[in-house]
Amino acid sequence: MPHYRRFSDASVSEKMLDTMFLITIGLGYLFALTHTFYSHAGRDGEAGLSVKDVEIAYFGESHQTRLGAALNGPMSDNLEKPEQQAVILDWIDAGKSETTFNSEIAPILNNNCIMCHSVEAEMGLPPLTSYKEVLELTHTDTGASVQSLVKVSHIHLFGIAFILFFVGRIFILCEMAPIVKRITVVIPFVAILIDITSWYITKIIPGFSFVVVIAGGLMGLSLAMQILVSMYQMWIYKPRTDAHTLSEDRMHQ
Ligand code: HEC
Repeated sequence: MPHYRRFSDASVSEKMLDTMFLITIGLGYLFALTHTFYSHAGRDGEAGLSVKDVEIAYFGESHQTRLGAALNGPMSDNLEKPEQQAVILDWIDAGKSETTFNSEIAPILNNNCIMCHSVEAEMGLPPLTSYKEVLELTHTDTGASVQSLVKVSHIHLFGIAFILFFVGRIFILCEMAPIVKRITVVIPFVAILIDITSWYITKIIPGFSFVVVIAGGLMGLSLAMQILVSMYQMWIYKPRTDAHTLSEDRMHQ
């Protein structure tokens, strides 16, 4: 029977090297989680990180612009005539031409909005005094661009492959049922592939954002489990299933 290396075959210096590596990776992972929280939390207008936030990050907020949202919501009361709301929303939908802006939109804004929304008003609100300024508030949010996703994908795949490979190499020195070990080393790779694929799918199908969250969570869980179980077996756990150890035990009985 071939002898596979286990932690009991590893020198103390090898185990110290493994431990420092695992601690550093674990810490890095915690920072990655914090980063995810800071970059996505609250996108849906509610505190905390939710599946909806992830959806907005990748798919965007369809057809919702800052100006449109304000006119549908709190700013509608500032219009002297309710039909002016539709005039502005139609102008956004129709492609935001500068000619129409000057002839139809600017007069509405000048009469109803710029007393608060201008630099002179000193209210710290986005100004609505020129075509360019108004355009700033009418960008449709289409989520992360494919170009930026491609950039993050290749960095993630290269970087994470190394992390998972080395953490997995250490983890296979554990004593446990081979089937559990085989599944545990494969799961994080499958999870990261699904995670990254689902970023792109979420750009097309917004409801897919829950797969991004589940796959990301699965990768984190399996990574954490490999790190913790490896450190436990390295320093605390004493293997007792070895035939040699067993027969020695019997001799001492
Ligand atoms: C009496 C002052 C006042 C008037 C008049 C007013 N606004 Fe506002 N507006 C505010 C304040 C205060 C806020 C920020 C608080 C909020 O979002 O409710 C705001 C927020 C906004 C925002 C959101 C800005 C952001 O950061 O996303 C938009 C867009 C907007 N207003 C458009 C308009 C338009 C269009 C009109 C004219 C129909 C208008 N406002 C008239 C005071 C005003």
